[in-house]
Amino acid sequence: MRLTAPAKINLYLEIIGSRTDGFHELAMVMQSIELADEVDIILSGDKRIQVSCQNSQVPSDNSNLAYRAAELMGKKFPDAFTKYGGFEIQITKNIPIAAGLAGGSTNAAAVFVAVDLLWNLGLTQGELQEISAEIGSDIPFCISGGSAIATGRGEQISPIPSLEGIYIVLGKYKSLEVSTPWAYKTYRTQFGHTYSQDIDSLAVHSGNMVKAISKKDVKDICQELHNDLEKVVLPEYPLVRELRETFHNAGVLGTMMSGSGPSVFGICESQQQAKEVEEYIRGKIPNMDLELFVTKMVSHGIQVTSHA
Ligand code: C5P
Repeated sequence: MRLTAPAKINLYLEIIGSRTDGFHELAMVMQSIELADEVDIILSGDKRIQVSCQNSQVPSDNSNLAYRAAELMGKKFPDAFTKYGGFEIQITKNIPIAAGLAGGSTNAAAVFVAVDLLWNLGLTQGELQEISAEIGSDIPFCISGGSAIATGRGEQISPIPSLEGIYIVLGKYKSLEVSTPWAYKTYRTQFGHTYSQDIDSLAVHSGNMVKAISKKDVKDICQELHNDLEKVVLPEYPLVRELRETFHNAGVLGTMMSGSGPSVFGICESQQQAKEVEEYIRGKIPNMDLELFVTKMVSHGIQVTSHA
C-alpha cells in the first residue's frame, strides 16, 4: 500500500498553560500542505517491523515514530498481528526533518491508516486518532488533515472549513534543528508566570483566525498568524530571525515560524508571487544550506494512493 503523508504548518499556536501530565495546554490552528512524504507499507508475513529511508538522518529503529506506530498497533491488536504479520515500511522523504512541519508524525499517521486497512480492523478515524495520540500529539491531526483547531496537548481535533490552493513558500536551513522539548521547556522558564492557572476557564484567542478561515479571507488570516514559540526560538536562532525578516521584506501577505521551528513560511497571493518570493529570498540569502519550497495548502490528510 502506498500513501501520501502531507506536512503541516501552524497558522496559530498559543500556549495556554501547564498540564498535569507535564505537557502544555495549547490552542492551535493546523493546516496541511501539499509538500508530502510517500510511505510504502508491505506486509512482511513474519513478526518483523522494518523501516527504511533513503535519507540517512531518518532512524530505522523505534526512535522513528513510524516504527512506534506499527509497534503500538501490534500491541493493541495482537490477534491481527499474529494473523497478518508485521511490515516493511519504506519512507521517501521530501519533508525536511526536525523542521516543525510534523514530518515524523505524518509518517506515523500513514502507518496507522495503512495498518487499519491491511489488517481489516475497521476502526473509525476517531478511534485511530485516539490510539495515535499515545505516541505523539501531532499525529491525530496528520491523519485527518485539512484545516483544524487542535486543543489539549494538540491531539484534540475539531475540523473547520478547509483552506485549499493558497500558495506558500517554506524555508528551512538543512543543518539547523530545533528541539521541540527545548522550545517548550524554555518557554515555561521564561513565560511560565503568564500561564492560566485554571485551564478549564481559559480564554483562547484563536477565534479571529478561525473566523478568517471560515470566510477564506487570506489577508485576515495573515493578520491573525501567531506562534508563541517564536518568542523563545527567534532570540536564540539569528538565522531563523533573518529568514523571517527576509520573507517580510519579500512582500508576502504574512510570515511565521511553523511549530517549534526552525522552518518559516510566507503566505502568497498566487503561485506567481510564490515563485518571485522564492527567487527574492534565494538572492538575499545565497546560502546553499537554505532549502526553499513553493507549495500550497491542501484540504486532506493521509491518502492511500495505491493498493496492490
Ligand atoms: O507530543 P510530541 O512528541 O510532539 O511532543 C514533543 C515534546 O514537546 C514533548 O515531549 C514536550 O516536551 C513538548 N510538548 C509540550 N506540550 C505539548 C506538546 C509538546 O510541552 N502540548
